[in-house]
Amino acid sequence: MRTSTPLALALTSALASAQFTPTVPIDDRSLSDIYAAARREYTSNSTRPLQVFWGGDAGDQGDGIRTAWAQQFPDIPLNLTVILSKYADTRLDEAFYEGTEYPVVDVAALQTLRDFPRWKTQNRLVYYKPANWEDLLANENDPDGAFLAFSIYSFGTIYFDSSKVSADDVPSTFESFADPRWKGKLILTYPNDDDAVAYLFSLIVSHYGFGWLRALAANDVQWVRGTGTPIFELERQHNDTSSKRALTFTSGSGSSASWGGSKAVEPPEKIMSWPQTVATFAGTPQPETAKLFVSWLVSNDRQNGSSPSVLNSLNEANGVSPYTSNTTIFSGFRTFETDRAGVEWWKNVFEEALDTPQGPDPLAVYPNPSS
Ligand SMILES: *[C@@H]1O[C@H](CO)[C@@H](O)[C@H](O)[C@H]1NC(C)=O
Ligand SMILES: *[C@@H]1O[C@H](CO)[C@@H](O)[C@H](O)[C@H]1NC(C)=O
Ligand SMILES: *[C@@H]1O[C@H](CO)[C@@H](O)[C@H](O)[C@H]1NC(C)=O
Ligand SMILES: *[C@@H]1O[C@H](CO)[C@@H](O)[C@H](O)[C@H]1NC(C)=O
Ligand SMILES: *[C@@H]1O[C@H](CO)[C@@H](O)[C@H](O)[C@H]1NC(C)=O
Repeated sequence: MRTSTPLALALTSALASAQFTPTVPIDDRSLSDIYAAARREYTSNSTRPLQVFWGGDAGDQGDGIRTAWAQQFPDIPLNLTVILSKYADTRLDEAFYEGTEYPVVDVAALQTLRDFPRWKTQNRLVYYKPANWEDLLANENDPDGAFLAFSIYSFGTIYFDSSKVSADDVPSTFESFADPRWKGKLILTYPNDDDAVAYLFSLIVSHYGFGWLRALAANDVQWVRGTGTPIFELERQHNDTSSKRALTFTSGSGSSASWGGSKAVEPPEKIMSWPQTVATFAGTPQPETAKLFVSWLVSNDRQNGSSPSVLNSLNEANGVSPYTSNTTIFSGFRTFETDRAGVEWWKNVFEEALDTPQGPDPLAVYPNPSS
């Protein structure tokens, strides 16, 4: 969709209110067939690498997927940029309103769930249903195939430096962290800088009250931007015996270091999780490669190992479901983050207690590897 003139913009908004969507068939090709089509597309058009925005806040969050892609699809370069979801959508929207020839990226995988329905009504997304469409969590996808959930992310698991705190001493409720016993020991992400962390904090504060937030604020927490940052900071301070910093609960993962441990909260305490969502942008010069990327993300091989996954059959085989965990709220985040007035209200609660988020974009501190 080109929108280089006011007339085109007017036409776009007229189209946007027309809700016709094409019915696309499920793509029944195998990954190797799609790879062959993508290779033809790449060589005959000798185009750029597939351009992907990958919502995240530390460059290394893209390493696993870059490596796995390069191993499985070596003939097609992937330019995967880790970027804060709330900046990725802005970049995409600015380019759209400026009427650039191509979308900024072919594919975006983001946390900002509210964007996808809007982009659909603006006719900016490609309708696509990968081969295992019927096996995907139906409630998390656009029924017409404009976007789909490809992974379940979560915040709220407690990660700790086991050389500084023993697993037995790590609490299994968030309530404990307001206790002076944990003074100077926590590293946490500003909840007013990341909607998913905001949602987690909204659950905790709703449970334990504003007094909990005030006590936490008085507990000498090291507040940081980014959910990768607490783990980097724990690592950096690990060998520093004068640092007591030992725990976080605002990172997505963090027990891989030799000193790292993790603990799940116990019922009735709950953490948050959400379906990270992916879409392909209309006007991509590499539609087949984009199909390959999306199909591969939700393929059985990539989903097997995630628990829960976005495939019903795997969840059934593993006896898990994102919907029935008694320590995880899965479906609340979409509602929370779509209600921008509600998010603003919570951000002000957090800002009043914790101040505005300080520091640069975490990706300026923990950058992408040069591609
Ligand atoms: C090359 O790109 C154009 C769109 O830019 C597309 O229509 C065409 O099918 C592509 N060629 C191949 C072989 O995929
Ligand atoms: C990779 O993506 C970034 C961010 O969109 C862009 O600035 C850069 O030019 C791209 N590089 C290549 C080789 O496509
Ligand atoms: C901490 O010390 C260990 C050796 O005890 C070393 O392997 C590691 O690289 C050090 N970590 C940092 C961040 O300096
Ligand atoms: C998932 O992976 C495990 C271990 O590699 C394997 O045994 C199992 O068959 C796989 N399940 C499916 C459904 O592919
Ligand atoms: C739910 O919580 C209880 C503890 O209250 C635990 O024993 C049980 O295993 C949990 N069930 C599931 C499905 O996680």
